[in-house]
Amino acid sequence: MKWAVLVGGTGSNLRALLEHRVDVGVVISHRTGVGALEIADSFGVPWRVLTAREYPDRDHYGEVLRHALAEFDVNAIALAGFLRWLDDETVNRYRNCILNVHPSLLPAFPGLNAVQQALDYGVRCTGVTVHIVDEGQDSGPIVAQEPVAIEPDDTEESLLPRIHAVEHRIYPQAVRAFDQGLISISGRLVKYAGG
Ligand code: GRF
Repeated sequence: MKWAVLVGGTGSNLRALLEHRVDVGVVISHRTGVGALEIADSFGVPWRVLTAREYPDRDHYGEVLRHALAEFDVNAIALAGFLRWLDDETVNRYRNCILNVHPSLLPAFPGLNAVQQALDYGVRCTGVTVHIVDEGQDSGPIVAQEPVAIEPDDTEESLLPRIHAVEHRIYPQAVRAFDQGLISISGRLVKYAGG
């Protein structure tokens, strides 16, 4: 499959996907000047920036986004730090072919600042979820999850590297499983062929 990776930050997950030889046709960022674009450059992957300032209307943003996806002939999308909501038409067009990585054990702590949310709540364990993107917020079927223990004196700063280490391992694994046709989705249930 040819993937678009949608970013907005440092791009560490983009790097992990590229290092695992995921075929990334284009990187699309909702912010200018972010590290993810430098990473795209360093791997020779073309990129586009579509900011909310340029396209404030969500449907129009979706239209421009779909145009870019079609231009690069991608058939699947991996979100990695992309903080714009996808419009319904884009979700529909790429139904079950859009993945996201989220830094909590969903359905706990959806949305922004998930790591800090977990620390504030006082849970002893959080983690990472890879899920299919649907129309809701971090609500689609779960493809992969792995827990990360929270130590009593953890801060966001000390916990984040352990979360990221898990993301960089399980996100490429999930994307590669998609590539190999090992994943089937029925309602909320995601099955891996052969295990
Ligand atoms: C990751 O922590 C991911 O879980 C969240 O956004 C962050 C992106 O980080 N969705 P990076 O830009 O891949 O380093």
